[in-house]
Amino acid sequence: MPASAGLRFRAACPGDAHAIAGLHADSWQRHYRGAYSDAFLDNDAAGYLLPLWTGRLASPDPQARTILAEHDGEVVGLAHTILGQDATWGAFLDNLHVAHGLKRQGIGTRLLALTGQAVLDASPPSGLYLWVLEQNSDARAFYATRGGACTERGEVPPPGGDPQLNGKPMSLRYAWRDPSKLLLAGRP
Ligand SMILES: CC(C)(COP(=O)(O)OP(=O)(O)OC[C@H]1O[C@@H](n2cnc3c(N)ncnc32)[C@H](O)[C@@H]1OP(=O)(O)O)[C@@H](O)C(=O)NCCC(=O)NCCS
Repeated sequence: MPASAGLRFRAACPGDAHAIAGLHADSWQRHYRGAYSDAFLDNDAAGYLLPLWTGRLASPDPQARTILAEHDGEVVGLAHTILGQDATWGAFLDNLHVAHGLKRQGIGTRLLALTGQAVLDASPPSGLYLWVLEQNSDARAFYATRGGACTERGEVPPPGGDPQLNGKPMSLRYAWRDPSKLLLAGRP
C-alpha cells in the first residue's frame, strides 16, 4: 500500500495513548528482541508502555513534542522528543517508530523532518540526538542516510529494571548538530 495517499501528521493528544502504546510495543517486539528479554517483550512491554503513554499525554511535559503519522485514521508512526535534554547534544529523540507494514515509504523521514522543525522552532534552537541499539542495523542505516553522525557507544539503560535486558546490550548515539539538514529530506 503506498503510504503517501491518506497520510497526515499531527501532534498527539490524550486519546491516542492506546494506539501509540500498541504500535510501540509491536515495534519493540519486532526490533528489540535479543537486547530486551523475551519475557519482558512478550509479557510486560504492552503493560509497561500503556501507562507510560497515558501519563505522558495526560499531563504533557512542556518540553516534549509527540508527533504522529496517521494513515486513514490509524496511527502508523510516532516521534517523541524532549527539547533541551542535554547541554551538549540538545533535544533527545526518545522514540521513533513506524508501523511494520509501512516501513521504507518515507514516513520515518517525514517524522524526523518534523522533529527537526520542532527543534528549530524552540528557543534557542539546538542540536538533536538519539540512542539506537547497536544490533538495530536497519535503523542505524536509516539515521546514517539522514545525515546523523555516530558519536558515542554506551550501555542500554533498562526500561525499568535489569531483568528486562539480556546481558549488557549496547547502544549508539547519533547526533545532528544542525537539525535543519533534516528538513529537505522530509518534504513530501
Ligand atoms: C527506522 C525507521 C523509523 C525508519 O522509518 P521508515 O519510514 O522505514 O524510513 P523511510 O522510508 O523514511 O526511509 C528509509 C530510507 O532510509 C535509508 N535506509 C538505508 N538502509 C535502510 C534500512 N536497512 N532500513 C531502513 N531504511 C534504510 C534509505 O535511504 C531508505 O530509503 P529507501 O527505502 O528508498 O532506500 C522504521 O523503519 C522503524 O520504525 N523501524 C523499527 C523501529 C526502530 O528501529 N526505530 C528506531 C529506534 S532508535
